[in-house]
Amino acid sequence: MATALLHFHDGVSNAEAEIRGALEKAGVEVCAQAAPQNRCPTIIFFSEFSDGLLAAVRERTREAPGLVLTVAMAGCSIRPAESWRLLHAGAADIVPWDCGEPGVSQIKARLERWAALDQLCNSRAVRNTLVGESPVWSRLVRQIVEAARFTRTPILLMGESGTGKELLAHVVHAMGSSGNHGLVTVDCTTIVPELAGSELFGHEKGAFTGSVGSREGAFALAHGGVLFLDEVGELPPALQSQLLRVVQEGTYKRVGGNVWQTTEFRLVCATNRDLKDLVARGDFRLDLYYRIAGWVFHTPPLRDRREDILPLANHFLRVFQNEDGASELDATVRHYLVTREYPGNIRDLRQLLQRIAQRHVGAGPVTPGDIPEEDRPSEGDVPAHWETAQLDQAIEQAIDMGTGLRGIAQATTDAAIRIAVQSEKGNLQKAAKRLGVTDRALQMRKASGKF
Ligand SMILES: Nc1ncnc2c1ncn2[C@@H]1O[C@H](COP(=O)(O)OP(=O)(O)OP(=O)(O)O)[C@@H](O)[C@H]1O
Ligand SMILES: [Mg+2]
Repeated sequence: MATALLHFHDGVSNAEAEIRGALEKAGVEVCAQAAPQNRCPTIIFFSEFSDGLLAAVRERTREAPGLVLTVAMAGCSIRPAESWRLLHAGAADIVPWDCGEPGVSQIKARLERWAALDQLCNSRAVRNTLVGESPVWSRLVRQIVEAARFTRTPILLMGESGTGKELLAHVVHAMGSSGNHGLVTVDCTTIVPELAGSELFGHEKGAFTGSVGSREGAFALAHGGVLFLDEVGELPPALQSQLLRVVQEGTYKRVGGNVWQTTEFRLVCATNRDLKDLVARGDFRLDLYYRIAGWVFHTPPLRDRREDILPLANHFLRVFQNEDGASELDATVRHYLVTREYPGNIRDLRQLLQRIAQRHVGAGPVTPGDIPEEDRPSEGDVPAHWETAQLDQAIEQAIDMGTGLRGIAQATTDAAIRIAVQSEKGNLQKAAKRLGVTDRALQMRKASGKF
């Protein structure tokens, strides 16, 4: 269903009725006004590029990220640099207005694609599997779901260990059009070149000593479904060249066989190595790289999506405790979790929550004592995190009371100066030194009665 909010920028208002009419005639439902926090797609019509237009795109992007389409009216010429600025401000695209076909149908098709993607991203298959609402993660999931559902091109997932590559491969399978066909996983780290032939290609009866019967390999088993090559960067060179043909032409021979077999599968590869770097060093075939890298997606490390830590932690707690009786995390534990480092990314967090869940007893919240000693910050580490849970609580309270960022920053500065001056027993010079500011800055504040 194609639904959109229309926004007419400078000088376009005279064409409003005509635009509305053309869109409604094509079956686009025009919303009167976006409800607060409504992710309704927005179409912004404009007749010339301006800073005001950029501001309008940014504002709507905050409400509906990725769902803002800009439409240039006839006669509006927009320079390439301006187009990029619009995209950087959040516009999904810039299309020319044309009252008839194909302009209107292009807009409608875009809206329908967005609606379909919204539905897929909110489906149980995605929501129940992938936790995280951070912008960087949500954008990635949306792009992967789009590639999975609307294309058959090979997908390459690159990212640090434990960032969810395998989980995403399962989502690609669930979202794709493979129906009931399965997902066949080949772990390239455990592949032994001598046995790999049979593992991947299958073998004929009597192909080698001990092969009493024929056997299907991964390529045959993946037919009609998804072949997931995990840790593809570890694939031995000999197998890289053999793989090239299957991926390119979908044909292969079983070990000990002479007949060309055909197979057709969706290829998903994952690696925590920098494949481009392996190519540059001559350790990975360039032609294979381009064949498997139809779509390339980078899974972000957990440190780049810290806002997802607590939702993930709560999710894992529910997994490891009774679903209904999952405990809450108290303020110190929450603070500990969001400030801790996670070299093993989400796997690290998952295992930590498993240890915590195993230690926790009773019905109350998870408290700092539930964190195993091994995982606790050592005494020396604690002062490094001066942003304590109390500070978070105070800021939370300030925000609840309607204090803006400027007011919060001002209050924090005032408190820092007051505390430094007190601890230096009124010596402004020493206090200024400790705060890294000039004596004069503190003298002026004192003169204006700030403390
Ligand atoms: N967004 C997520 N929501 C819920 N669980 C997640 C998410 N991402 C990862 N996980 C969980 O974290 C663990 C690690 O994920 P996964 O095995 O997919 O990582 P990976 O990138 O394949 O790691 P490696 O490179 O070490 O193989 C798994 O238990 C997975 O279920
Ligand atoms: Mg993996």
